[in-house]
Amino acid sequence: MATVIVKASDLQRVEGRLPGDWAVCSVEVKDFPNGETIVYIDPEQVSTAEPPYILLWWAYPSVQDNVFRLLEVLDVLDVYCGDGDIVLVLPYLPYSRQDKRFREGEPLTLRLFLETIGSRSVDRIISFDVHNPVAFTRYSPVQAVSVSLLPSLVENIVGSMGDNGKLVLVAPDKGRAPLVDSLASLFEVDYLVVEKRRDRVTGEVSFNFETVGGEISSYDVAVIVDDEISTGGTVAGVSSFLKTRGVKRVYAVATHLFLVGGAEERLSSSGVDLVMGSDTVRYDEHVVVSVVDLLPGIAGNL
Ligand code: R5P
Repeated sequence: MATVIVKASDLQRVEGRLPGDWAVCSVEVKDFPNGETIVYIDPEQVSTAEPPYILLWWAYPSVQDNVFRLLEVLDVLDVYCGDGDIVLVLPYLPYSRQDKRFREGEPLTLRLFLETIGSRSVDRIISFDVHNPVAFTRYSPVQAVSVSLLPSLVENIVGSMGDNGKLVLVAPDKGRAPLVDSLASLFEVDYLVVEKRRDRVTGEVSFNFETVGGEISSYDVAVIVDDEISTGGTVAGVSSFLKTRGVKRVYAVATHLFLVGGAEERLSSSGVDLVMGSDTVRYDEHVVVSVVDLLPGIAGNL
């Protein structure tokens, strides 16, 4: 027995997909005309709910509003469930990319966020493919777990390859290299690393297309593996490079699909043949051929 607490607008994302003995408690959201926001949880429903309380909070889109609403929900849960076991599940960890002060004068937003959340009655935080899992556990005052959906995503492609050519996994920057290395070992395939640099002021990305690993032209299929695709600039840059070097098909696999700022167009014109991801951010499936479900990842980590 457990109770999943979820925004009323996200009920459709969990309906029919939870273990049979789990209850659902919904959170109403109202915005005032001046832009302030307030949540409401039926006191009768929440006071009779069974622990553990799994607060499943999709913070995107409208991340600023949803982070504040999350604090409001935690304030309500302090009243009704403060002595219980509250597990906060953040499918995408907000501000996980700001895991250090990249420039003088910038905040360490990930730590700020986690410390604020951890000061309420939260016992554990579960998230998925966090950009920097080490920073996640270091800055969270409570137990923090990053579950990876990437093995399932990569397996979908590797498993469907059969004898259709030689496949290589590609890390789009050095930061992803250890992850892609372990996936390559798991599936017994090769991997390459591309070097990427991001200008910390403009956000502009440039590539040094020296790869670490084998000769690119010897591969038929390249699978670019990343934690997230936002504007698609990273994957598009790597894809164009791979295609000019003779790779026939390029797939992009990333847990978190923001696909903002013209990403779909950018990916498609760079020759990406397929994008695969999960439902940690978006629920619409028109841009992806396959979406991995995050709910089993929660049940398996309680
Ligand atoms: C950055 O280090 C991340 O791992 C992703 O590569 C990045 O967030 C992707 O962003 P975009 O799609 O805008 O290039």
